Amino acid sequence: MCRAGFRYGREVLIMCSPIKKSIGKLVSGVIVAGFFMLPFTGAYAQDRAGLEDLSPFELKEALIAEASEGGRDILNAGRGNPNFLATMPRHAFFQLGVFALREAERSTALFPQGVTGFPQRKGLEDRFRAFAKENRNVPGVSFLVEAVSYVHVQLGMNADDFLYEMCEGILGAFYPVPGRMLTHSERIVAEYLRLEMIGKQPFAGDFDIFAVEGGTAAMTYIFNTMRENFLIRPGDSIALGSPIFSPYLEIPHLDDYRLNIVNMHADPARGWQYSKQELDKLRNPKVKAFFLVNPSNPPSVKMDRESLEYIGEILKARPDLIILTDDVYGTFADDFVSLFALYPKNTILVYSYSKYFGSTGWRLGVIATHRENVLDGKLAKLSKKQLAQLHERYKSLVTEPENLKFIDRLVADSRAVALNHTAGLSTPQQVQMVLFSLHSLMDTSDTYKNALKQLIRSRKEALYREIGIPSEQADENRVDYYTVLGMEYLVELGYDRELTDWLLKNTDPMEILFRLAREERVVLLPGRGFGTLNPTWRVSLANLDESDYVQIGRAIHKVMAGYIERYNRETGKNPKP
Ligand SMILES: Cc1ncc(COP(=O)(O)O)c(C=O)c1O
Repeated sequence: MCRAGFRYGREVLIMCSPIKKSIGKLVSGVIVAGFFMLPFTGAYAQDRAGLEDLSPFELKEALIAEASEGGRDILNAGRGNPNFLATMPRHAFFQLGVFALREAERSTALFPQGVTGFPQRKGLEDRFRAFAKENRNVPGVSFLVEAVSYVHVQLGMNADDFLYEMCEGILGAFYPVPGRMLTHSERIVAEYLRLEMIGKQPFAGDFDIFAVEGGTAAMTYIFNTMRENFLIRPGDSIALGSPIFSPYLEIPHLDDYRLNIVNMHADPARGWQYSKQELDKLRNPKVKAFFLVNPSNPPSVKMDRESLEYIGEILKARPDLIILTDDVYGTFADDFVSLFALYPKNTILVYSYSKYFGSTGWRLGVIATHRENVLDGKLAKLSKKQLAQLHERYKSLVTEPENLKFIDRLVADSRAVALNHTAGLSTPQQVQMVLFSLHSLMDTSDTYKNALKQLIRSRKEALYREIGIPSEQADENRVDYYTVLGMEYLVELGYDRELTDWLLKNTDPMEILFRLAREERVVLLPGRGFGTLNPTWRVSLANLDESDYVQIGRAIHKVMAGYIERYNRETGKNPKP
């Protein structure tokens, strides 16, 4: 028999009797009799206060050291780095490289041994077709053939021109020109962003893209240029949607920026959505920008339609508000719509290829801004003194620096302005980015997307099953790249509030993390480091196999049972589930 159990976020989890029984058995039975909580001796005991100050990613190192003591294998679910990667666009990359080099070597006769010239544009498509025929059974080659047809037929590009940009790019023999992004590459990536970030949402006008070394580089560039251009000044306020990727909690505090943070807390009781009250903080004119990750990290839910629309209401009163949205997880969501799709003039979009294509090592990301945007509007309205200062800064680039767009300032600032001519993402990186983008664009039945969603969601099922929590799929906004667990939630499953309160008062979430590491070899990250208000733990669902999540679920179940046993001993009570 199943009864309604505890409310976790928006989902009401259902607690089935057999699961309750199994926790009950753990608490009162043989297993827990042998589960004796030893005092800590390691890093946790020695430097408890010091550990509090560490960011979750630094703390992770201490947890790994604890878990791997004696050379044991560990279960590290602290990492967001996926343990999967897209194969076909990589096969295509290497085959394109073979073709490009062969093209370059057509001019070896003109050079000394071991040296060659560049591919020639004329007749490139014909020679590519011959190469493809010759290598038709080599993985990646038919993908390339389809890609050439796709860009020609669907995007109206000249095949020779496209292939030339790709061959020249993959050989990496020229500086990236234009520095913001190669021309054909930008168009293809724009199509990809339209597909994944805008979808069916009506969207007017065009946007520019700056290709960068991942989402984190994007943030570094954006904050720097906003400061240099007086769009954010020390003492200004910036609203942070939290919980959030923890490094983003730190940037505004840096001496470089000295910004005041207005926290906007997503509410676990509302499925980690923002209440209207929280969103109303954006109405304060002192708040210059709203900085968020959507879908969020770690709750891993996309912003719901109601909130997206409510932000539209707020923008009517705050047309000057800058929105900075990091949508790296958008591709894992169902029917994702970015704030950039709805409010392009106010929004700077940051997207990274790291997670979806398993390509953190490639360092691939983009910044997109609409051609008409509030940033350029604000630049035009700076004081005379500020305009004069910026004229000096950018005068070596253009004759009318006043008209230099925000996105082009980003490019220049990324190389200290003076080195602008060397700016831009390396061209082989841009080629891989194009092939990743085409992989999604050509996958009209979403085979890759559905496979990834299925992969992470079935890991979550396994984890929750073993902890003893039925995992419902009811919330359409859930993404499940991570999941957030909290002791109070888990205990509320089967026990009364008294026990939960005791646990919150008498246990230290950090100790639980170290206990999981030391006793169970399991590494999770503290949710508090990401800005959750209650003690929670982040479990990444992306970086281990399903059987590992089974083990992690069992470990959490066991540690929880140990704490309940301690409660029984210390209070003399024996709550029954
Ligand atoms: C929200 C968010 N943005 C960016 C990143 C890192 O992106 P990149 O590898 O593109 O720098 C992460 C990684 O965990 C993330 O969670």
